[in-house]
Amino acid sequence: MGFQHIPVLVEETMTLLRCEPGQTYVDAALGGGGHALEILKRTAPDGILIGIEWDEEAISEAKKTLMPCGERVKIFRENFIHLPDLLKSMNVEQIDGILLDLGLSSLQLEKEDRGFSLRGEGPLDMRMDQRTDLTAADLVNQLSQRELEYTLSEYGEERWARRIAKAIVRERERNPITTTQALRKIVHQAIPRRFYPRKIDPATKTFQALRIRVNDELENLRRMLETGWRFLRGGGRICVISFHSLEDRIVKQIFREWERGNVEGSGSEGVMRVITKKPVTPSEEERRRNPRSRSAKLRCAERV
Ligand SMILES: C[S@@+](CC[C@H](N)C(=O)[O-])C[C@H]1O[C@@H](n2cnc3c(N)ncnc32)[C@H](O)[C@@H]1O
Repeated sequence: MGFQHIPVLVEETMTLLRCEPGQTYVDAALGGGGHALEILKRTAPDGILIGIEWDEEAISEAKKTLMPCGERVKIFRENFIHLPDLLKSMNVEQIDGILLDLGLSSLQLEKEDRGFSLRGEGPLDMRMDQRTDLTAADLVNQLSQRELEYTLSEYGEERWARRIAKAIVRERERNPITTTQALRKIVHQAIPRRFYPRKIDPATKTFQALRIRVNDELENLRRMLETGWRFLRGGGRICVISFHSLEDRIVKQIFREWERGNVEGSGSEGVMRVITKKPVTPSEEERRRNPRSRSAKLRCAERV
């Protein structure tokens, strides 16, 4: 495929997960299988890795990476919110740990025809799961100006949301907006030049907002966290790696509810203990080696 996804915070994640031989782990955002392989090494010779991933291209990459582990790997093409049904179908009642490495893999980001990349020219697609219908082009061409503005400000925290939404609506009255570069240009023109961010492309937040909405990322994260912990054995851990503040805020908030026992069926006792009081972030060396890691934040909690 030509693109290599470098897993982030590998040592830090493995230390927190405390894998041991024979254990069963879920990697709920399998991607190319980089983290999963590390888990499998540490749970050898008979530990099991249940991998969930909804992107077909990522799954074929993961299958290649994890081939040497044979029957110890079970891969499912699913949205990770279906973890409970999936475990039930396998007759698995308890697991030793869960990893959730959110966001995009380089396999997705760097393939121009997936429409995630700001740099390349591609269709305005942005679906991680190619079986779904809604694309970024649908949002850009069909949402009302008000909904567009809401989307950009809510999911992109874009201060110029109103101007960008207006520019999009003006442009699409003439021609539908169908490519990444067409959208990027509209956003660039909508933001006053003197307010261009210094280190990132001015269209970054718009792209992030559309991607989150196309893939329903925040709602999926919330649903996954609300059910996933129930399958952990006592002492079992969940690690979540997030890449922007909207995700991290949800993780932090749900961890707090777990600790306070503010959870359905908990009888107001804490169900999880937070292990990382502050998020773990990549070292200077990792940031240099893998710029994609720069915004990564790792949080971990343990089943009481
Ligand atoms: C950052 S990558 C994971 C990379 C992986 N840890 C590795 O080392 O190769 C995140 C992956 O999660 C997948 N993903 C995101 N949301 C998902 C969901 N709701 N259900 C299943 N997979 C999801 C994406 O398609 C992507 O491949």
